[in-house]
Amino acid sequence: MSPSLTVRRITADQGAVFRELRTASLREAPYAFGATLEDALSADAASFDATAAQHEVSLSVGTFILYTEGHPAGLIEAHFDDTAARRAFVCELWVAPAVRHLRGGELLVDTASNWLAGAGAVEIYAWVADANRTAMRFYEALGFGPAGEHRRGARAPEQAESLLVRHVTAASQAHQS
Ligand SMILES: CC(C)(COP(=O)(O)OP(=O)(O)OC[C@H]1O[C@@H](n2cnc3c(N)ncnc32)[C@H](O)[C@@H]1OP(=O)(O)O)[C@@H](O)C(=O)NCCC(=O)NCCS
Repeated sequence: MSPSLTVRRITADQGAVFRELRTASLREAPYAFGATLEDALSADAASFDATAAQHEVSLSVGTFILYTEGHPAGLIEAHFDDTAARRAFVCELWVAPAVRHLRGGELLVDTASNWLAGAGAVEIYAWVADANRTAMRFYEALGFGPAGEHRRGARAPEQAESLLVRHVTAASQAHQS
């Protein structure tokens, strides 16, 4: 039987859980993120506490945690950027290998997208490394398509990243199919 998966927004007392998930993601999938494991390991506990506290209540950024049978098993960040367009992004997505292919990633993206849509977003963006074929196929399966923007990777400038976008209405339709 598949484990039950749930997603909840982070709370201020989850700095240690946040640190654990972030370091696990950077250790397991370093190719997928701009930060390094060393960055996360060298940051002090208080900075994770501060981020958890901000991401619980902020109107422009939130972190959402995936649980399997009550145990933290993944995460995603949702935020509005600070440009005039105030574009809505999901990022820092990671699901623990033991619970992949059970739709935890989909649940995280949909929960984060719903939160952004509730705050006014009509399009949800995600930067994905071109070499991360799994993530590309994952986002495409969820109805994301190319937004036409490309950039150099934050950590590895020789590795290109592409911007993907999903319209909020497309997400609702994908839910119904
Ligand atoms: C990408 C990731 C979050 C997917 O999480 P997941 O919980 O396994 O994804 P889901 O079970 O919700 O998958 C939904 C769909 O995405 C697609 N998908 C997921 N993993 C895939 C893979 N390895 N290859 C091809 N398609 C895949 C499938 O269409 C899948 O539906 P299906 O299981 O019916 O075939 C996970 O593989 C991960 O954490 N990878 C490492 C970190 C990373 O790359 N993050 C993204 C940074 S941009």
